[in-house]
Amino acid sequence: MRAVVFGASGLLGRSAMRAFSDVAVTGTGFSRGESDLVRIDATSAADIEHLLSRGRPDVILNCVGERRPGVWAGAPDQAQDRNVLAARLIAEGASRWGARLVHISSDYVFDGTSAPYRPHSIPNPLNAYGRWKLRAEQAVRAACPDAAILRLPVLYGPTQFAGETNLTEIAHQISTGDRVVLDDVCVRYPTHADETAEVCRRLADALVQGQHLGGVAHWSAQQGYTKYRMALLIARHFGLVANRVHAGASDAVSGDRPVDCRLDCKSLPAALRPDRRRHFGAEFPAVVAPWLLPTRTSYRRDVP
Ligand SMILES: NC(=O)c1ccc[n+]([C@@H]2O[C@H](COP(=O)([O-])OP(=O)(O)OC[C@H]3O[C@@H](n4cnc5c(N)ncnc54)[C@H](OP(=O)(O)O)[C@@H]3O)[C@@H](O)[C@H]2O)c1
Repeated sequence: MRAVVFGASGLLGRSAMRAFSDVAVTGTGFSRGESDLVRIDATSAADIEHLLSRGRPDVILNCVGERRPGVWAGAPDQAQDRNVLAARLIAEGASRWGARLVHISSDYVFDGTSAPYRPHSIPNPLNAYGRWKLRAEQAVRAACPDAAILRLPVLYGPTQFAGETNLTEIAHQISTGDRVVLDDVCVRYPTHADETAEVCRRLADALVQGQHLGGVAHWSAQQGYTKYRMALLIARHFGLVANRVHAGASDAVSGDRPVDCRLDCKSLPAALRPDRRRHFGAEFPAVVAPWLLPTRTSYRRDVP
């Protein structure tokens, strides 16, 4: 099997490269040009055509996207292109070259008012990112009707910098000992990137074997946490004083963040599920540990 992972330098893409490591896989990066990746601009039809015509993959996993709120606000056209145009061009390329496609989407296509959401629940995005993800899904379906579209919640996993995930950013913030106000309204379902990549691989295998997967699938952990609850968990585990961490409604007050988008995954067939479920409570310490600042007695309590 020949596979291409678009967005292989990102959080999910790096896990996906490990999940596809036993087959002939080509990964792409954009600004992060790791030496084993091909640098392409996925908003360029010519770049995609060049890659696919040379690689002739059986299957494509599209992990390209722009999920950073700072970029949505500061460069909305660029963010839109990374989410919508890239999805359309990759799907058109997959269709032209006869490759099966797994496309990654987001729980933000829902408004968060009536969880849990099934694959056929009606989307109603609250913000630009959610609208772009929904438009990307529509473009993928139009260009490549047999693509598998996998919607995901917030991911965590091994990171290259603290700000790469909500979880590691929170850990870093609270370890400074500074006063931090964190949202205690919006519930997230942090799901491990490696577990998610395993689902992507299984979807890819099933598509290559000729299975019809019926369009949209959901994958998500089912334990929900607000950012504030995540911070308390981290503080408790590492013995950090949590009295400078305060509960707020910082995300929810804007009105453009869904409060609870829990994804119902029951319809995902057993054969497409990962062998091992990774529980957030057991997995988060290893992920956040590299981003905690060194011990400062002013904010660390004595652990008996
Ligand atoms: N992480 C989450 O919590 C989460 C949750 C739900 C859904 N998703 C979706 O899952 C997918 C993967 O997310 P992620 O967390 O792995 O994202 P990420 O870490 O931000 O990685 C995004 C990837 O897209 C690449 N990229 C960006 N612009 C590009 C361009 N113009 N041309 C080519 N490549 C480009 C990046 O390359 P460089 O970094 O090299 O520039 C990187 O490899 C995205 O569609 C995202 O919206 C993510």
